[in-house]
Formats: sequence, structure tokens, C-alpha cells
Amino acid sequence: MQTIFSGIQPSGSVTLGNYIGAMKQFIELQDEYNCFFCIVDQHAITVPQEALELRKNIRSLAALYLAIGLDPEKATLFIQSEVPAHAQAGWMLQCVSYIGELERMTQFKDKSHGKEAVVAGLLTYPPLMAGDILLYNTDLVPVGEDQKQHIELTRDLAERFNKKYREIFTIPDSRIPKDGARIMSLQDPTKKMSKSDPNPKAYIALLDEPKQIEKKIKSAVTDSDGIVKFDKENKPGISNLMTIYSTFSNKSIEEIETQYEGKGYGVFKSDLAEVVLNEILPIQERYYEILNSPKLDEILDAGAEKANKTAYKTVKKMERAMGLGRKRK
Ligand code: TYM
Repeated sequence: MQTIFSGIQPSGSVTLGNYIGAMKQFIELQDEYNCFFCIVDQHAITVPQEALELRKNIRSLAALYLAIGLDPEKATLFIQSEVPAHAQAGWMLQCVSYIGELERMTQFKDKSHGKEAVVAGLLTYPPLMAGDILLYNTDLVPVGEDQKQHIELTRDLAERFNKKYREIFTIPDSRIPKDGARIMSLQDPTKKMSKSDPNPKAYIALLDEPKQIEKKIKSAVTDSDGIVKFDKENKPGISNLMTIYSTFSNKSIEEIETQYEGKGYGVFKSDLAEVVLNEILPIQERYYEILNSPKLDEILDAGAEKANKTAYKTVKKMERAMGLGRKRK
């Protein structure tokens, strides 16, 4: 059985972008692969976080993973900081990374742009992410398009390490969904939908109130010609909404175009709100049940234990290959 690893940062509201680009895939994959899904809290502290808020978000994200259908009997769910091998592997991989290649990462450029003081963790984020993936002999990493560059760097680091020290790592591939790999902002459809957007109308959070979701969809920026037609370049707003509609309804873009011929954006948007809510409302119900159940801690404890076992073995192999520690007599 092949292995899958993926992670999500607990840094605020989980958006429809995270759900469509990554989480929805996780559920489909858990039956066929040996899956590790991680709450990457150590990645989250590369930008300022309020401690109490971060802890709340970690628990909330864990409950959300389960609420969307992750089955802890099939997949391992755990918190990154509860498996020390991640930081250990991250450090060793930093020592095979070049500053130049880290500075070329788009995410680093975006997040450090215009800042006077940039924390070092923002630059060394990708070797930590490489560690996450490589510790589990991962074959496939399901992610949205924005993470592709990080997975490519992970492959480079793994190959470099294998060549320089010893063949330890499996070289992973990214698995990017055909549709919905890049869900765009509802307010500026040329920008990615992001949980850190200062304007909450730009994104839909999985835990938004139903009324808010309807309102955000109604006020999504489109264009003035009123034709429901997919044309990413000239009609990015409606095209983005059609992609969301398609992933929630399992209808093709062509079917949607035919269905809304001559109907205008008003009807389309209220139907879109309905298909989105049909899927999200049951998730929200399950979420609140799980969040307050003692089962959540049991699942996370068991997940950390299982992840630790595999990750510890890899970290020891890495240390041995690099000559860290000592050989017992
Ligand atoms: P993060 O927390 O920003 O996002 C989690 C996942 O959601 C995807 N995503 C999107 N997909 C489509 N459209 C969007 N607008 C959108 N926004 C986010 C992301 O591509 C991602 O798959 N560095 C990672 C976290 C990470 C990780 C890992 C991922 C750390 N270690 C190891 C995979 C494997 C990140 O910041 O994702």
C-alpha cells in the first residue's frame, strides 16, 4: 500500500479553498492508501500567533478533519509538535538546503515582502515541510496548486540527501486535483482564496454561519454581462464560482453552462449557496459534536503514538547517515 502525507496549518478559519483543494481529496484517498494527516502547528508559528488562539485553532482543525469524514481507523491524524522527529528532521534538512533556493520560494517572497524584520523560520519553512513528508516514506502528497513548489523542493532535498549520505528517502510526488486546485478570492478573483485575507468577504470558512455563507456568495465579484460561462481569463469571478459549484454538485462545467443558459447570476448564486450549504451544514453539526467529545483527545493521542513510531525510525536513520550521536559499544 502506498503512503500519503498531507498537512494543514491551524492558522485561522479553514476555507473552501482548503476544503476543495486538499481536504476533500483526503477523504477519497483514505480507503486506498496508508494515510498520515497532520495539523502543522510548528509551521503556523512562522507568522505571529496568539498562544491561546493557536491552541483553540489546533483543536478546531482536528475536529474539522473528523467532521468532514476522516476515519481514525483508516488514517492517522496527529499534531506536528507532538511528534518531535519533525523538528529534528527539519533541522537536518536545513543543513542540506541552500539559502538561495529557499529565498526563491514564492511563499517566502510573498510573506516577507515589504517587512522590515523577517523571522528565520519563514525562510526555513520548506525544509521543515520536507521533513514532514519524508519521515513517513511518503509516495504522494495531496495539496492545492500553491504548494507545488514546496513539494518540488522536497524532492530536490530528498535526492540530495540520498546522494550525499545514504539512500533513505522515497521521492514523493504531489497530487493536485484536476478541478479546484486554486480557488480564488470572492472579492478579487485574480487572487487566491486565503484564510489570512484581511477581508472576510473574500473567503468562505467551513464554519461560517449559513446566513454569512449566502451573503458572501451573493456579494461575490463577477462581471456585468450576466452570462454563466466559464472563461477564466475574461470572466474570472463567475468561472471561480462555477468551479466551486462543480466540485460540490459533481456536475461538469458544461452541464452548469447549459443549466443556467439565459438565467443570469442571481439564480445561479442562490443555487450555488444551496449546494454549498447542503454539504457544509452536516459537517458543521458533526464538528460541534466532536469538538466537545473526549474521543477527540483519544484519537489525537493514538495518532501521535502511531506517527511517532514511523517518524522516529526515519530520524534515527538520518542521524546515523549524517554521523550524529554515537555508536554504542
Ligand atoms: P495551508 O495550511 O496554507 O493550506 C492547506 C491546504 O489547502 C490548500 N489550499 C488551497 N487549495 C485550493 N485553493 C485555495 N485557495 C487554497 N488555499 C489553500 C493548500 O494547497 C494545502 O494543500 N505548507 C502547507 C502546510 C504543510 C504541508 C506539509 C502540506 C506543512 N507541511 C506537508 C503538505 C505536506 C500550507 O501552508 O498549507
